[in-house]
Amino acid sequence: MKHHPVRHLISLDDLTDDDLREVVERGAQHAAASDAATSGAVDRPLEGLVAGIYFVKTSTRTRTAFSTAMLRLGGTIVSYGPGDLQTNTGETNEDTGRVLSRMLDLLVARTAGDPGEMRQWATQNRMAVVNAMSADEHPTQALADLTTLTRHFGRVEGLRLLYVGEGNNTAAALALALSRCPGAELHLRTPPGYGLSAAILERSRRQAARSGAAVLERHDMDVLPGGVDAIYTTRWQTTGTVKPDPRWRETFAPFQITDALWEHSPRAVFLHDLPAHRGEEVTADVLDGPMSIAFDQAENKMYSAMAVLEWCRAGQWQHVDGGIPATASAGRT
Ligand code: CP
Repeated sequence: MKHHPVRHLISLDDLTDDDLREVVERGAQHAAASDAATSGAVDRPLEGLVAGIYFVKTSTRTRTAFSTAMLRLGGTIVSYGPGDLQTNTGETNEDTGRVLSRMLDLLVARTAGDPGEMRQWATQNRMAVVNAMSADEHPTQALADLTTLTRHFGRVEGLRLLYVGEGNNTAAALALALSRCPGAELHLRTPPGYGLSAAILERSRRQAARSGAAVLERHDMDVLPGGVDAIYTTRWQTTGTVKPDPRWRETFAPFQITDALWEHSPRAVFLHDLPAHRGEEVTADVLDGPMSIAFDQAENKMYSAMAVLEWCRAGQWQHVDGGIPATASAGRT
């Protein structure tokens, strides 16, 4: 098998600031090319490559996004379910990574635990490993979210976001990504006991201090920022998790997204990583209303996944013809 430099994307920390910007803009380029139906704008840079798609946890969007992204870029896929690999019978993660890397070019995985397992698969340099969600971070969701913001506003820099809900892996990735965007503000309103971890908050704030962004968290809905550009939530029952407190819904109830939040931010768009539970974290009026771009956000996961796969193959988009500047799609989603 021929060798090509690969890059792993297990955490947003694996991207430099330039990488982050380029992957986001590249995702927006793929989206704009698709909008414009310029079929010649994207050739098949991953032709001849094979990606393993290994999801231990349920997924509708991310799994489909990476599968279709790989196919659209000319590659093929091999899919594994939670019980399929011999890790279930005791084979080590390192051996699994070594073996798969002899046959696969990329491995896109969603796991149940921390990213340590993925780091063990990544102790080889033939097969790129992509974190499609682990317990602590959902890096490719944040990349798709920034692509969505770029498509809608033409930029991420200087945007002000209000995030309401659990400080889960989606919120963590959003904080880690936005805190690297100059002038961006992320205002989190997380239920008491369900905030960002201290480690994520510390990393985000350190990055924000460097970039000129801000990450601010409170555990009540008493004081809200006005005039924000976007309001974001995630479902209360984060995939793969359970809440030990049987009364957790009472704690979360004040954090439901309703029309009332638009009183002080009338121009804000609504974002949701989906899946949604109407009547829990968000009312149907908001999710299905004119301010919602949540379903465009879901579609953008595919364009962003295309950019991630190309990046993992060491910027294989250099082989792509043309391309439409991200700013060309500003104002559309
Ligand atoms: N937002 C997200 O990760 O969706 P899936 O769980 O369906 O992949």
